[in-house]
Amino acid sequence: MVELRGIRKSFGDLEVLCGIDLEIFSGEHVVIFGPSGSGKSTVLRSINLLEPPTSGSLKVAGTEYGPGLPGERVTRRGKALDLRRTVGMVFQQFNLFPHLTALDNVALPLRSVRGLKRADAQLKSAEALRRVGLLQRAGHYPQQLSGGQQQRVAIARALALDPEVMLFDEPTSALDPELVGEVLKTMREVAEAGMTMVVVTHELGFAREIGDLNVFMEDGVVVESGPRGFFENCTSARAREFILAVR
Ligand SMILES: Nc1ncnc2c1ncn2[C@@H]1O[C@H](COP(=O)(O)OP(=O)(O)OP(=O)(O)O)[C@@H](O)[C@H]1O
Ligand SMILES: [Mg+2]
Repeated sequence: MVELRGIRKSFGDLEVLCGIDLEIFSGEHVVIFGPSGSGKSTVLRSINLLEPPTSGSLKVAGTEYGPGLPGERVTRRGKALDLRRTVGMVFQQFNLFPHLTALDNVALPLRSVRGLKRADAQLKSAEALRRVGLLQRAGHYPQQLSGGQQQRVAIARALALDPEVMLFDEPTSALDPELVGEVLKTMREVAEAGMTMVVVTHELGFAREIGDLNVFMEDGVVVESGPRGFFENCTSARAREFILAVR
């Protein structure tokens, strides 16, 4: 579903991704974790070209994007706009429009990105809000919702677009501790429905539960990655040290 090969990203003189290789299969749930500044968000943002890589190859659902590896012949490339129709993203700060109801927040991209008519967009939005357990809040504005509810609206907004992959960048780290559980529950349900997911999180309990592939990053590289059981079985000193410190 997603393949990164030799992804590099520099901001000016600073190289923040130093060659990332990652292969994600359909329906797989990938956890990315590591210290602040290690490049986790930049990896996610490369997957939907919010941060176009400086070099390397990005393939999503069979289409190639990005500049390619050095020396590699650049064949056909997909468009960023089409990629963003395939890849949904949920951010730490929910990024809802304050002047729109929950329903209209979900409906807006359905109209602008998918080109649905108003009535169709509202129907689809209601269905997405139902999936995250918030249909009865459809008419509420973000400030009338708790942080956990706002984040679930943001998840509904991404789901409504029928993405093939969903990216979550620390979706619970802006929440009061007692609201984390409801968002994780919603994410668990999305995972169980078979969505391909890439999740940056420090909720290692949740990571243990959903991570089919677990990726520990530091200083712009993947230090170690592994399947289920990674949090108990990883061998690199840094990964082990980090897991102990977060727990
Ligand atoms: N737009 C930008 N311009 C310049 N430097 C940036 C930009 N975005 C990220 N960086 C730098 O790239 C590095 C990696 O940042 P990134 O946000 O990917 O880290 P992270 O692992 O997500 O960290 P955190 O856990 O704090 O969210 C950091 O040194 C950061 O300062
Ligand atoms: Mg980040």
